[in-house]
Amino acid sequence: MSLKIKNLSVSLGEKQILKDISLEIKPGTIHAIMGPNGSGKSTLAQALMGNPNYKIQNPKSKIQINNKNIINYGPDERAREGLFLAFQNPTAIPGVSVANLLKTAYQLVKSKNKESRHKVGIRDAVNAHSSQTASGHNPALSVWQFNEMLVEKAKKLGIPQEFLRRSLNEAFSGGEKKKLEMLQALVLEPKYAIFDEIDTGLDVDALKIVAKAIDELKKTGCGVVVITHYQRILKFAKPDFVHILVKGKIVASDGGKLAQTVEKSGYKKWSEN
Ligand SMILES: Nc1ncnc2c1ncn2[C@@H]1O[C@H](COP(=O)(O)OP(=O)(O)O)[C@@H](O)[C@H]1O
Ligand SMILES: [Mg+2]
Repeated sequence: MSLKIKNLSVSLGEKQILKDISLEIKPGTIHAIMGPNGSGKSTLAQALMGNPNYKIQNPKSKIQINNKNIINYGPDERAREGLFLAFQNPTAIPGVSVANLLKTAYQLVKSKNKESRHKVGIRDAVNAHSSQTASGHNPALSVWQFNEMLVEKAKKLGIPQEFLRRSLNEAFSGGEKKKLEMLQALVLEPKYAIFDEIDTGLDVDALKIVAKAIDELKKTGCGVVVITHYQRILKFAKPDFVHILVKGKIVASDGGKLAQTVEKSGYKKWSEN
């Protein structure tokens, strides 16, 4: 069992960004991907999530979850296979509360119901929400149980209950958006999760809370990929493996200590040629 990325080459427009990336993420491990600005980290995250703007170049490229190749799957199907998709921009959706959105996303990801197969994007979650009534069945938990679970998980992240009732068209601070992203991961219980710069814009207390949540995901057997260019979050969520991405290639992979090397000497030694 693992998330395997094999010979992944990706282009954006005319430009090749990722060159032959191969990685294996086992359940219950934390992998950090570090690299300078513009090295292709977000491109990797987007390609894993199935963003159609990112074109897979090499026919040999594979993304496998437990040996099933999902490279041709859309984001919704990937989510159903257990890959975590973060909210792209939670502020853009009017009239839906955080709690309702999370409930709907949960139902859509966990449901075996064919009707909702293609609905796990945020827009779809909103649409599905408006068409769901009390009779809409919840695949795993009752509404009551779901709310209890949500409140408990929000508490762990220091998210107040009022926040769950807020509408998504209200303004969220950078830090709140990041916590919301983490709350979504804790609620959806993915097999594999990728966080792209979840540490950006967090003060040190929030950073520790988010790092603790990453550790908790790991303990439940989730394979976690933490993309960052600073090592500060890695002090609190210790990675089992660190990979350095420079100019679209993985130029070094090692244990957690590699993050300290980066802290001391930056990416120079890998960027020179
Ligand atoms: N819309 C775009 N069109 C063309 N090139 C882009 C676009 N967005 C980003 N890039 C380029 O893709 C490369 C990788 O970007 P990105 O994956 O965002 O890097 P990182 O997340 O490591 O900072 C950079 O060289 C960047 O300039
Ligand atoms: Mg980026």
